[in-house]
Amino acid sequence: MHHSKKLKNDGKLIVGTKDLLTVKWENNQVIMIDQTKLPGRLIYVKYKKYEDVARAIERLVIRGAPAIGVAAAFGMALAAISSKAKTPNALLKDLKIAYQRLRSTRPTAVNLVWALDQVMKEATSKNDVNDIKKSIILYSQNMATDDIITNKKLGKNGAKMIRKDEVILTHCNAGSLATVTYGTALGVLRAANDMGKKIRVIATETRPVMQGSRLTAFELDHYGIDFSLIPDTAVGHLMSSGLINRVIVGADRILKSGHVYNKIGTYQVAALAKRHNIPFYVAAPSSTFDLRSNVGDVVIEERNKNELMKMGNKLLAPKGIKIFNPAFDVTPPELITGIITEKGILKPPYKESIGKAI
Ligand code: MRU
Repeated sequence: MHHSKKLKNDGKLIVGTKDLLTVKWENNQVIMIDQTKLPGRLIYVKYKKYEDVARAIERLVIRGAPAIGVAAAFGMALAAISSKAKTPNALLKDLKIAYQRLRSTRPTAVNLVWALDQVMKEATSKNDVNDIKKSIILYSQNMATDDIITNKKLGKNGAKMIRKDEVILTHCNAGSLATVTYGTALGVLRAANDMGKKIRVIATETRPVMQGSRLTAFELDHYGIDFSLIPDTAVGHLMSSGLINRVIVGADRILKSGHVYNKIGTYQVAALAKRHNIPFYVAAPSSTFDLRSNVGDVVIEERNKNELMKMGNKLLAPKGIKIFNPAFDVTPPELITGIITEKGILKPPYKESIGKAI
């Protein structure tokens, strides 16, 4: 992607008044919705240091593949501003330290590395300290704008295939709160809803961090889209009862083979969809594709056992037991009906369609 040296716009023109704006750059600060406080409170936090952005990504103050990519890019802009370096080389050294720290926050979503690499490339193309600083700030803001434009395109592409009155199941949160503002899987649902297709959404709770009940339910309610929340364990029952017409989920990383890394539980949903002949779609922008790695190269994040051990202060399992808490799983290409991108809907065989489009 190439960004002109001008700010595309500050996002205002393409963010509606009702839209949840997950992350933005303002007055040399990063402002983001604190997603750990949802659904109870919609509050914004401001950060001036890249270390605080790194911690926010680790603590899931901000989460969702495209959103953490943009947050990390803004983190690099903060690192640039606060650097006292007098030479381009010294500044690049400071930036590399910030790059490593931000990159270490979460391993699975490829958008994070993608965004950080883009920013570093931009930085190394300049040879004046002030130019580097200015261009990083501009570049990261343009990245945020691009995220909105891309997801709106993706949303339209996906919405065209949806018929009136469909019931569509989604897992985790691939909405506004996982992007800058529009969403990927939920972007498709928003676009379909805006086209008057009267869809109904089924949202899974998404244990153990509850992105479905805390975030997707909050969003769908906020945007006035008809939905019901179900426990993760009810997916098979609803499908076998003929209550689901389609599944659309987001992605954290898509390989050239068409293997999709997404929130833990996605593979189960896909396998059940296949069993019941229900079309299973993945919605993701090109920045989620990783054309270099193979299955087995990708690290699946394992999160803290407290996510299973406790709900608030309430103990959910006996103390001291063994717990395994993988945050993502891999859905193989043969379970995927199509991948909705801003460049169109990719169909199997994915090696060919991904190779051509991405
Ligand atoms: O652990 P999270 O909440 O960052 O995981 C998020 C997901 O798995 C989403 O489905 C994915 O990032 C797609 S978001 C557009």
